[in-house]
Amino acid sequence: MSDKNSPLGSPKQNPDQNLETNPLPKDDSSLETIVRKIQDSMTLSKKHKFWETQPVGQFKDIGDTSLPEGLIEPPTPLFEVKQEPYNLPSPYEWTTCDMDSEDTCTEVYNLLKNNYVEDDENMFRFNYSKEFLSWALRPPGYYKSWHIGVRAKASKKLVAFITGIPARIRVRDEVVRMAEINFLCVHKKLRSKRLAPVMIKEVTRRVHLENIWQAAYTAGVVLPTPITTCQYWHRSLNPKKLIDVGFSRLGPRMTMSRTIKLYKLPDSPATPGFRKMELRDVPAVTRLLRNYLSQFVVSPDFDENDVEHWLLPTEGVVDSYLVESPETNDVTDFCSFYTLPSSILGNQNYSILKAAYSYYNVSTKTPLLQLMNDALIVAKQKDFDVFNALDVMRNESFLKELKFGPGDGQLHYYLYNYRIRNALSPSELGLVLL
Ligand SMILES: CC(C)(COP(=O)(O)OP(=O)(O)OC[C@H]1O[C@@H](n2cnc3c(N)ncnc32)[C@H](O)[C@@H]1OP(=O)(O)O)[C@@H](O)C(=O)NCCC(=O)NCCS
Repeated sequence: MSDKNSPLGSPKQNPDQNLETNPLPKDDSSLETIVRKIQDSMTLSKKHKFWETQPVGQFKDIGDTSLPEGLIEPPTPLFEVKQEPYNLPSPYEWTTCDMDSEDTCTEVYNLLKNNYVEDDENMFRFNYSKEFLSWALRPPGYYKSWHIGVRAKASKKLVAFITGIPARIRVRDEVVRMAEINFLCVHKKLRSKRLAPVMIKEVTRRVHLENIWQAAYTAGVVLPTPITTCQYWHRSLNPKKLIDVGFSRLGPRMTMSRTIKLYKLPDSPATPGFRKMELRDVPAVTRLLRNYLSQFVVSPDFDENDVEHWLLPTEGVVDSYLVESPETNDVTDFCSFYTLPSSILGNQNYSILKAAYSYYNVSTKTPLLQLMNDALIVAKQKDFDVFNALDVMRNESFLKELKFGPGDGQLHYYLYNYRIRNALSPSELGLVLL
């Protein structure tokens, strides 16, 4: 598996990476691992002219246990927050993107479709659907002013984008109002001109104007300083297509027909009472989820409104299933995944890779392994090519057994203006960002 540019080259890691369909155990002494370690150590000593000025954990402070956990800088009085937008280079202007407008949604969709995250080998690029963007950017209490675009003044073309949405995130026993920052994108022709720091400062300013002082975000690049570093795992559902498009390779001593047999799944879920989540399930799912998430160090603090928005099935965007006990009618288990296709760049036969991403899963009665196997079965029924999952929460307990293979990119999680003394392990994290 190659990982040429990571972690320096690819921003938020597109997990659509080469995957051996029969993954070999990672060898710590492999050349790849040694190269990665050298790259990582170079990254740590690298200057971050922008990030060094921000209230984030700094590399120089790693291991300094005298620093307190919690906010890094106290909030400033609201009247001291800069009232006017940051300056852009003169050919460009700010725009607030109205995601209720079909036309604006299409403009954002096209900017991301052509310029957003690619894998290290530029074979795949995320292709978030318009319906997905509309869902991801309009949760309860969202702010239109946090959907920020940059246009070329002359042509009015949208050339850059960044967003925030409000969220309550619990860190240990403190629930903090935060912004979740996502969809940072600068048009390919405008890269390396230091536009990204201006966009980050502008979204931060608009977040401050709402009296919110913390944020959560992820990236495939190493910045000061990850609270944890996760890995994507991939479960082939359509191995032939994945191999044909170069997403995965035929394992050693494997034939195509043996590979197809290896990944074959039953036609329908096995668990009695396994069904799609409905509106009437929101209270029970909220209880189940809140209880489950409370065991992790960092997680969202979901209420019923959040669960209705984020987890009630939305066609082509998010799928949720639960187990209703046939005896007691109690909701005992829950699983969900969201739909994020990638464009396949330069393949004659295929243009879209249909990927499902594991979202939140809770098991209390059905073993998690069996629950996730049922999730794989419904994803296969819905014609997904691959099922992706991070090694967060309890996911490690099913990945290997359900034939997920490790991907070759890492996803780093960050908090803005909130210090965590020691990095967390992925299994201490209860947060999935889209
Ligand atoms: C990410 C992206 C917007 C950065 O823009 P750019 O033109 O490459 O970089 P700029 O010259 O504008 O800015 C560089 C600064 O932004 C920071 N930066 C780069 N990617 C970043 C990211 N994903 N999150 C936060 N900061 C990032 C850099 O670390 C650097 O700051 P530093 O000097 O303190 O280290 C651009 O590469 C892009 O659109 N890539 C494809 C989409 C993507 O990966 N988005 C990010 C998803 S997390």
